[in-house]
Amino acid sequence: MERTLYYLFYYFFAKNLPRSYELGPFGKWSGRLRRLVCRPLFKDVEGFFSVERGADFGGGRNIIMREYAGLGENLRVMGTGTVTVGRHVMMGPDVMILTSDHKANEEGFDGYVTKDVLIDDHAWIGARAIILKGVRIGKHAIVGAGAVVARHVQDHEVVIGNPAKVLRVRVQPPDDRKS
Ligand SMILES: CC(C)(COP(=O)(O)OP(=O)(O)OC[C@H]1O[C@@H](n2cnc3c(N)ncnc32)[C@H](O)[C@@H]1OP(=O)(O)O)[C@@H](O)C(=O)NCCC(=O)NCCS
Repeated sequence: MERTLYYLFYYFFAKNLPRSYELGPFGKWSGRLRRLVCRPLFKDVEGFFSVERGADFGGGRNIIMREYAGLGENLRVMGTGTVTVGRHVMMGPDVMILTSDHKANEEGFDGYVTKDVLIDDHAWIGARAIILKGVRIGKHAIVGAGAVVARHVQDHEVVIGNPAKVLRVRVQPPDDRKS
């Protein structure tokens, strides 16, 4: 019952409040409120995290947020697989994470194939990227805007395109070596 109330409060109110980086204190409080409501909805949270305006993650039971992880503006998470968002992960707007497929060989596509998604620490997901089931985005990796990621991305790789391919491997910034 309590969970249902948090769910309704999020989808009918908190989700639509201003972006957390706009309108000074109003944005700040909007972000705080979203965090407060999402905390009990998510499977597991670790300290501070952020949820940007318009993020739609279903019931939230399959979302794990590590410290300083961020769900981007208008993010859409679909499917029943667990989505783990690592420490300091950043996302641009309109990212999609799809953890389930309909069974392609079944008559009427009955049933689902579901695999978890892991976005590892310090990764950056560009605007409108699509991340498909079973993918691990490596630490400090970058997914370019509009990329469709169907295979694992290794640590420090920068991937672009559909299907996403390696553009280059990042030179490791000094600060990254700590984690
Ligand atoms: C992936 C990204 C980080 C690469 O940046 P970069 O290293 O400066 O890359 P460049 O601009 O030098 O482009 C290198 C090549 O990749 C191509 N490219 C870059 N980003 C691309 C993308 N998202 N999709 C397809 N091709 C892309 C460029 O056209 C260029 O191709 P060319 O060598 O044939 O001319 C950047 O392009 C990107 O997509 N950033 C995401 C921005 C975003 O979503 N911001 C939201 C705020 S969080």
